[in-house]
Amino acid sequence: MAITPPENRLWWNEPLHRMEIVWITIAFLWGVVMFLTMVYWHIAGQQNLSNEAYRVKPDAFAAKAEAMVARYKVREEGDSKIPVVRPPAGGDAYLIARLWEWWPILELEKGQSYRLHLSSMDWLHGFSLQPTNINIQVHPNYEMVLTVTPTQSGEFAVVCNEFCGIGHHNMLGRIYVVDRK
Ligand code: CUA
Repeated sequence: MAITPPENRLWWNEPLHRMEIVWITIAFLWGVVMFLTMVYWHIAGQQNLSNEAYRVKPDAFAAKAEAMVARYKVREEGDSKIPVVRPPAGGDAYLIARLWEWWPILELEKGQSYRLHLSSMDWLHGFSLQPTNINIQVHPNYEMVLTVTPTQSGEFAVVCNEFCGIGHHNMLGRIYVVDRK
């Protein structure tokens, strides 16, 4: 029971105080502004690329990635002999996230577009492309697809930015962008 119960029990039928309706209007308009800001910032802020998401079983995704590697591998790198793959320009590039690596290394061509497919084999990882500002959560059972067109050649690091256990800090990958012109 309230200390001072409203005199009229049907308080919601009382007319709104002017100050109250002013504040409700301000709050509502501010909500609209913030909503439109999200849309604006997505377009003008050069933030994350638009992506598509599909359901996929980890095995099915791994099979597609392995098929790409078998077909387009150009060399291997490092002690772990991680394959470097050059998918065709305009084609599909697959990148697997798993404990605790990004597999394989992709070699893309500057100025060409690719469909970059990301998925996880186990649990949540974060795709963070350095030094650009692209961040995508990578979940198991979901295939995230980005259309990317590299505008700069060089070596880019893929950092996992979702904590994924004891090897999280070692979960580094690489993407090469080569200029063939
Ligand atoms: Cu994968 Cu942190």
